[in-house]
Amino acid sequence: MISQKMQEAINEQVAAEFYSAHMYLAMSAYLQDIDLPGFANWMRVQYQEEVTHAEKLFDHVMERDGRGKVKAFDASPVEWKSVLDVFESALAHERKVTAMINNLVDIAQAEKDHASQIFLQWFVNEQVEEEASAKAIVQQLKLMGDSKAGLFQLDRELAQRMFVPPAAAAE
Ligand SMILES: [Fe+2]
Ligand SMILES: [Fe+2]
Repeated sequence: MISQKMQEAINEQVAAEFYSAHMYLAMSAYLQDIDLPGFANWMRVQYQEEVTHAEKLFDHVMERDGRGKVKAFDASPVEWKSVLDVFESALAHERKVTAMINNLVDIAQAEKDHASQIFLQWFVNEQVEEEASAKAIVQQLKLMGDSKAGLFQLDRELAQRMFVPPAAAAE
């Protein structure tokens, strides 16, 4: 059975993942509004992924005979200055989430909760990818500067991203 301390810490992370989901959905709406449907699609997929992160954490608590809870979380901002501002904010946010996941691993170690330590490794790896993918888009946006052609091309590329449900995704 999961310890009370670990349960509460993971339940806090469930709320943090839902916050991420709402933030990415708000970013998707902003990007749609500035006529970048491909970027908006990329963020919509990001939103869907964050919901699965919340569920994965929630399910872990339940499987360990604990009680999953959805705690309150803040409202996301809804406006940004530019597409670059959106992706720089996303990158800064993912860096914060990485610190939260690392903190959960520290708690799992302190609690001698081996099952949670192993379970959380998936999130440790996922955060490496999350930071890398946000950073790659920030870098491309910076490289293209004011090029409308470059922005159009990248928008078309990001339109290709599709949500892969976790059951079908390679773990
Ligand atoms: Fe996440
Ligand atoms: Fe994320």
